[in-house]
Amino acid sequence: MNPQAFIASLSYDIRLAPYDVQGSIAHARMLAKCRIIPSRDAKRIIKGLEAILSGLGRGKRLPQEEDIHFAIERELIRRIGPVGGKLHTARSRNDQIALDLKLYLRDQIELITREIIRLQKAIVFIAEKNMDVVMPGFTHMQHAQPILFAHHILAYAWMLERDKGRFADAWKRADEMPLGSAALAGTSFPIDRTYVAKLLGFSRVTPNSIDTVSDRDFLVEFISAAALVMTHLSRLAEELILWSSSEFNMIRLQNEFTSGSSIMPQKRNPDVAEIIRGESGRIYGNLIALLTILKGLPLSYNRDLQEDKPPFFDTVDTLQGCLAVAGPMIATMVVRADRMRALCDRGFLAATELADYLTEKGIPFRTAHGVVKRIVAYCEGQRIRLDELTLEELRRFDTHFDSGALRVLSVDQVVHVKDSFGGTSPRRVREQLARLKKLIR
Ligand code: ARG
Repeated sequence: MNPQAFIASLSYDIRLAPYDVQGSIAHARMLAKCRIIPSRDAKRIIKGLEAILSGLGRGKRLPQEEDIHFAIERELIRRIGPVGGKLHTARSRNDQIALDLKLYLRDQIELITREIIRLQKAIVFIAEKNMDVVMPGFTHMQHAQPILFAHHILAYAWMLERDKGRFADAWKRADEMPLGSAALAGTSFPIDRTYVAKLLGFSRVTPNSIDTVSDRDFLVEFISAAALVMTHLSRLAEELILWSSSEFNMIRLQNEFTSGSSIMPQKRNPDVAEIIRGESGRIYGNLIALLTILKGLPLSYNRDLQEDKPPFFDTVDTLQGCLAVAGPMIATMVVRADRMRALCDRGFLAATELADYLTEKGIPFRTAHGVVKRIVAYCEGQRIRLDELTLEELRRFDTHFDSGALRVLSVDQVVHVKDSFGGTSPRRVREQLARLKKLIR
């Protein structure tokens, strides 16, 4: 392989072109303002850069160069002549790439945050549409207690709420303008970094030029926030996969989110959810890849840093794709309320209620727990549900039971009384729904 082709990055850093141009325009304006280059030269440079940008918008190609910085500079000189060569005064590709990445990162965080909100809205929509649907809640993948379906699905909206916070945090730390650090040591030209920061919408400038050209923490933070979103999406995907299986049969995904088998004509496989679940693996890989590139790397700039882009860009693309496809999949799924309720009849979901009932009568909870455990064993032997027990049968296990005990056993009642803040009672779930809606307006 040709070594020059081997080190080239234009094939992937081309997506930074608009940001490279934007940064160069700000830099040229600063050079003129500080009288480092004549104003008329800066004007020609800026006009040339703007022409390059609109050319790119119309699909014009850049010259084949090593990377996006060289490609744009060469194209500028081709268009406006040797004066274009003045643009790179008091600048290095090392601070330039740090700037491009930060500008791009900020845009992506905005886009991704919008996608997250869209997904949250889809979750809120399906929760609200199925407000009265009761399903078995699980711990250890075993039936535990009945819950509202809305309560369960809204859990994901809260995870995503935290995810937005992590991206917002990453944004804040990336809000430092790197340009002016030059290769690593700063520059002898009388530049005005704060002016460039203002032009580009940064609230401050980086304080150490060596750190600036070595730092990729902002990408690590972004990818780790993304990895956690993928964790959340893969858990959601996993539940959709389980719930849509014939064993659970609690939901049905619309056909466009499933695909058939090439051999078994009856199959509708949840491929979209499976791809989301699978892609999370690659995003974790991207995080490890970047951390490993940075580990032990001496200061300041080393070409290894160019390898930050493939994992970063792949993370951006993958995350956007997963977020965009998950929303419509959730919003359009069919929630099988009857089936979910029927499943609540299995697994003695009201057992805790019965123990609580005795506890209210003054029995220590631990003793009550033992009593109900024996009652459940009895029901299993008789092949009956808890709510099929008679009062006489209950009183055989503990004489504190009275007619009120039978009333606590209905599924709706069990859900209704979980009225602690954040609990599954309809009132509490409506409360969190209202809170969420305010957050994602
Ligand atoms: N393409 C390089 C990167 O992505 C830009 C900086 C190159 N700097 C250098 N000294 N070779 O990191």
